[in-house]
Amino acid sequence: MVCGLILTEVNTETNASIALLLRDKQGVLKVFFYIILVSLIFFHVIVVRKLFYERIFYMKHLYNIVLLFLLLIAAGCSGVTNENNSVSTSSDSSSQQENADHEKGSDDKKENGNSSEQVEQKETDSSQKDSPNDGQTDDKTKDKKSESASGDGSQLVTVEDPHAITVVVNKNRKLPKGFEPKDLTVPEVPFPFDEFHQKKQLRLEAAEALEELFRGAKQDGVELVAASGYRSYDRQKQIYQNNVRQNGEEHANQFSAKPGTSEHQTGLAMDVTSAAAAFKLQQSFIETEEGKWLEDHAHEYGFIIRYPEGKSDITGYAYEPWHLRYVGKETATEIHQEQETLEEFFGLYP
Ligand code: DAL
Ligand code: ZN
Repeated sequence: MVCGLILTEVNTETNASIALLLRDKQGVLKVFFYIILVSLIFFHVIVVRKLFYERIFYMKHLYNIVLLFLLLIAAGCSGVTNENNSVSTSSDSSSQQENADHEKGSDDKKENGNSSEQVEQKETDSSQKDSPNDGQTDDKTKDKKSESASGDGSQLVTVEDPHAITVVVNKNRKLPKGFEPKDLTVPEVPFPFDEFHQKKQLRLEAAEALEELFRGAKQDGVELVAASGYRSYDRQKQIYQNNVRQNGEEHANQFSAKPGTSEHQTGLAMDVTSAAAAFKLQQSFIETEEGKWLEDHAHEYGFIIRYPEGKSDITGYAYEPWHLRYVGKETATEIHQEQETLEEFFGLYP
């Protein structure tokens, strides 16, 4: 009824305008908006006067509800109309945002592309040797970033994949804080003591390879004894500190890794000795039949002599003919044939 009243009051010119407005949805909403506004004025002027001035207070709540309802509809129509009016603006800004995101995405892609190229390049470098890299390339990429990022001359970085069989841990490359291998097991090989000790353990793959190696040695009449395998961070800390106390820091640093930088913590290294070497770990081990056999055959079982003679400037440690490191047969064989260190093999030196 209200709408009817209003519409009959508008003149021909207005009718024409309304007809024009009704051609599109936006126009219809505008018409509704104006109708509601006029209705509000109608209610306020006519109804309020009747209800309040004539003291019909019981109608107060009904009036409030109707007024609120009309305000909401008016706000809705107004909002839609405004939204429609500002479509181009918001559309522009959203498309600007999209463009910005897209450009950012492109930048990201470019960056990723660059780092992928770097990674691929590095992978090519090391894959020239067809080595199973197991994330080593990522480590190398990270090393470069870390070095340039620190800018303090420190080269100690954290390895990215400490579980990789070919992980390189040395004086420049430490294991992540709290790292412990998951699949430690005690290989069935002779030890100089019977009771369980953490140092009897190796990671499963390395343990099985060590059993194979010991069997092979035995077949050749060589009796090896396993002396020291896995070491936790804390145990390595004790060993290093004892070494420093007994022999001084300079000597200790030649034979003992600081905690967090020992291969023994990876569960992939085992020190091996023999009765002929009095079950000791000393350089004269190489003069024994067992020491020589290891030097010649360890690679056939996936192990390398990790700290070879004359390579201290690369490995950071003195010659340790007893320290076996499992890297897998393929890598071990290539390293053995090329007479390289793990650092050289993975292009980490110089
Ligand atoms: N003997 C080697 C370097 C170590 O302590 O890990
Ligand atoms: Zn060792």
